[in-house]
Amino acid sequence: MSGFKRVLIILASVATVLALAVGGGFLWLYSGAKVSTVGRTSFRNELAVPPLAESTVTADGTRVFDLKMQAGETEFKAGRKTPTWGFNGSYLGPTLRAERGEKVQVRVRNTLGEASSVHWHGMRLPAKMDGGPHQMVAPGTTWSPHWKVDQPAATLWYHPHPHGETEDHVQRGLAGMFILDDAKSQGLALPDTYGVNDLPLVVQDVKFDGARFDHGKGVTQTVGFLGDRTMVNGTLDPYQVVGDELVRLRLLNASTARTYDFGFDDSRAFSLIGTDGGLLEKAARMDRIQLSPGERAEVVVRVRPGERTVLRSFPLDIGQDFYNQRFNGGDDTFDVLELRAKRRLRPSPALPATLGKLEIPDGSHAARGRFFDLKLSGINGKRMSMGRIDETVTRGTTETWTVRNTNGMPHNFHVHGVQFRVVSVNGREPEPALRGAKDTVFIPDGTTVKLAMRFDGPADPNAPFMYHCHLLYHEDQGMMGQFVVVEKGQKAGRPAASHAHQGH
Ligand code: C2O
Ligand code: CU
Ligand code: CU
Repeated sequence: MSGFKRVLIILASVATVLALAVGGGFLWLYSGAKVSTVGRTSFRNELAVPPLAESTVTADGTRVFDLKMQAGETEFKAGRKTPTWGFNGSYLGPTLRAERGEKVQVRVRNTLGEASSVHWHGMRLPAKMDGGPHQMVAPGTTWSPHWKVDQPAATLWYHPHPHGETEDHVQRGLAGMFILDDAKSQGLALPDTYGVNDLPLVVQDVKFDGARFDHGKGVTQTVGFLGDRTMVNGTLDPYQVVGDELVRLRLLNASTARTYDFGFDDSRAFSLIGTDGGLLEKAARMDRIQLSPGERAEVVVRVRPGERTVLRSFPLDIGQDFYNQRFNGGDDTFDVLELRAKRRLRPSPALPATLGKLEIPDGSHAARGRFFDLKLSGINGKRMSMGRIDETVTRGTTETWTVRNTNGMPHNFHVHGVQFRVVSVNGREPEPALRGAKDTVFIPDGTTVKLAMRFDGPADPNAPFMYHCHLLYHEDQGMMGQFVVVEKGQKAGRPAASHAHQGH
């Protein structure tokens, strides 16, 4: 054999060994990336229901809440203390509740060792009360935003929004629900006894390293952190006893990166009655509801006496390529919560035929359109900058926003200060789950959505609202932009490049 041939053979075998190693490594990563907790979930802990926040009403009729951001320890597993953060407690926060037309104020006290903020996700309010990265609360200070609730009954939520650190602060446990009521919704025959037949469900995926949270993310995960099990309201392996035929679940995906496809283990149908911004015009029957990070859904499910049924998150059916499907959690299955029906159930009235009328424009008379291209490297080619206003919106006019993802990974899109309507998905009429008021919408790779919205809140040329991907790792990386709402003819001002609130 000539020396040349010998070299060739050696090279070829080295290449083969390398290819096998890489391929084998990939296969190992690929099969290890799929998670299922079906059959591994014990349902041995009674579901914790976040307490309703206490409030006082001042002489001028303002309902005042107190939220204290604090560090502590939480015993998720018996005898094991996990370092966590919470509002008025060691993990998560109480449920705030107010009525349309009420003036509210929240006194947010930061007792953490670092600055944070509290954003009212889904709320229509003045931009300087929004709690985004421009309303930082320095350690040891109190920030007291106030506004008048002026939107339909809905399941909203609150969480920190410090630029570059939102994922971390939410993962440590800072999140809670903010439920709004209105006269119309109170007049409907819907299950509405909090914690009994109307259950708040804050769903998060977590991973433990001993007693501590493990927030590491693998190199193959482009969406950010993914846990290997779920918890609800901070309860691992949760069950809930129910005593009514119809049970309303207020689902909040408070996970930082994971998209769920919720249904029941026997694939029973349920009724979707509300989305991010409130009740649908009429309930929609379905057996799956997809929620990406930040999205909410209100569903009503019927249980039979004495049975047990499991709320499950199924593998996603979103036409992702096999890489995204597997490495970004799309193939995973989680048993989320077991409902245990009592032997004798209180009869529930049938669901009302119609629930309400959407108070958002359909986009047919839009004054202008905007386009947003989603990339991890930035929206419309720009990374978030605190000192730059990206868009200027005129108060009271309807706009359509076209948002496109061709980035090869899943994203979603959230707009502050407004509820929008999904007009189309890839040019087609959206499915029933996207026909309600929304503030966050899932946009998998290869998808373009058209949204219609109108900013009716007060104008403020100097205080920006945010729009961003609500996969919090992406948001922190700079997948976020800023807009101001101005009066007709007014120009955008200049936001302070950074601004830590100094307290009173
Ligand atoms: Cu829930 Cu800008 O966030
Ligand atoms: Cu928000
Ligand atoms: Cu994203």
